[in-house]
Amino acid sequence: MREIKRIACVGAGYVGGPTMSVIAQKNPHITITVVDLNQARIDAWNDPDLNNLPIYEPGLDAVVGEARGRNLFFSTDVDKAIAEADMIFISVNTPTKTYGKGKGQAADLKYIELCARQIARVAKDDKIVVEKSTLPVRTAATLKSILDNTGNGVNFHILSNPEFLAEGTAIPDLHHPDRVLIGGEDIRAIEALVQIYEAWVPRERILTTNLWSSELSKLVANAFLAQRVSSINAISELCEVTGANVDEVSRAIGYDSRIGSKFLKASVGFGGSCFQKDILNLVYIARSYNLTAVADYWEQVILLNDHQKERFAQHIIKTMYNTVNGKKIVFLGWAFKKDTNDTRESAAIYVADHLLEEEAEIVVYDPKVSAEQIYRDLDYLGTRSPSENRRLLTVVSDPYEALAEAHAVAILTEWDEFKHYDWSKVKDKMKKPSFVFDGRKILNSKDLQDLGFQYYAIGE
Ligand code: UDX
Ligand code: ADP
Repeated sequence: MREIKRIACVGAGYVGGPTMSVIAQKNPHITITVVDLNQARIDAWNDPDLNNLPIYEPGLDAVVGEARGRNLFFSTDVDKAIAEADMIFISVNTPTKTYGKGKGQAADLKYIELCARQIARVAKDDKIVVEKSTLPVRTAATLKSILDNTGNGVNFHILSNPEFLAEGTAIPDLHHPDRVLIGGEDIRAIEALVQIYEAWVPRERILTTNLWSSELSKLVANAFLAQRVSSINAISELCEVTGANVDEVSRAIGYDSRIGSKFLKASVGFGGSCFQKDILNLVYIARSYNLTAVADYWEQVILLNDHQKERFAQHIIKTMYNTVNGKKIVFLGWAFKKDTNDTRESAAIYVADHLLEEEAEIVVYDPKVSAEQIYRDLDYLGTRSPSENRRLLTVVSDPYEALAEAHAVAILTEWDEFKHYDWSKVKDKMKKPSFVFDGRKILNSKDLQDLGFQYYAIGE
């Protein structure tokens, strides 16, 4: 196996961008080119002003600043990058299918297949092809079949190397991963990838498995994490009717070292590009093997999450005297979690959709999400016309301006700045009674009640 001197990464998104930036930072002797079909995205990655990178991720600017132009490059010339590379990472998106068989459940492998065909067409020498995107189990077989049958007679070694970074903490997660997982069949190809990670990850944290175990482990890790959130969210509803406090319950159970304290924060519902998609995928695979009990079990995690979002919206409506028609409700936050500008599957989208059905007047403030993105998210649902979405929902860049004359505030993302607002000043600006619906439990209920707010938090 030849020494890895050049890497290409297809897909410059939330996974490809940060991952390749850190690999380049830690391996200055390897030239890495990240390619994407999206010219605007590549231009943003190349923007001299590091504040304009296409994704917001704390610490990413410094890593890109260090490596870009040295051994890290961003380009739209996909063919050239593939042709020159010894190793190719595939980091294209794999959304849930919106059509045909498996619609709404299976992963759409269209982009992966296009990418595989492109690699097969262009490659004139042996390549190691690494799956970085989360994929359904046995995608490697599909990839291998396309590569071997349409290629130019060169050898392809397929590795699965799922990414476990969480958005908002991508850079620390990449710098200090709990583990790196590499699945494959060819020992020398595996070793070539191990060496790249060994530049900064202790060897004992680099796990190697067979291809299928690696692919499945990624789905299972996300399913277990999402299940914890749905589990505590189920308990939050019980807490609300019984007088227990879900934070106290989380703390009490989290001290049990077998349970552990992480990922037990009740919320308005999990979002993000991975959890729902990966569980739907798991459910689809289980059903395709006729494992109905297994499929039903995991499907509940999604159903409970949908219930949590809907329940939050219904609670707002009920509390505001069963009518929100024409009432101004300020959304603090639109991203699916803090410290990211990613909105995929964000709970805010679905809560807004419920309230807009009741003709509420929504004003959104998010420190990092653009108005275009917010409207795109709503329009994508197809519930009402784009002009109707723009009539009922406005986006502002000044939170205090938004709060003037508001009937209610709904906190949808746990951005730190919301905790530090002058809530007494907010109260003065709002209509009375002033409602706060805290979907992230970031404010102190006693403080808010002392200020005279009608304060509701999930699970209290
Ligand atoms: C997740 C996995 O954590 C990561 O390993 C994988 O690579 C991709 O999917 P991500 O979706 O970026 O990462 O963020 P994560 O921190 O896992 O949060 C997912 C969602 O769950 C967010 O909406 C978050 O607000 C919510 N969440 C998380 C809770 O509501 N409560 C919690 O206790 C934890
Ligand atoms: P993720 O969160 O998985 O990184 P993103 O949607 O943020 O997902 O990024 C995936 C990127 O892959 C997008 O920028 C998209 O334009 C790019 N992409 C998809 N298919 C191809 C392809 N065949 N060639 C190059 N880039 C592609």
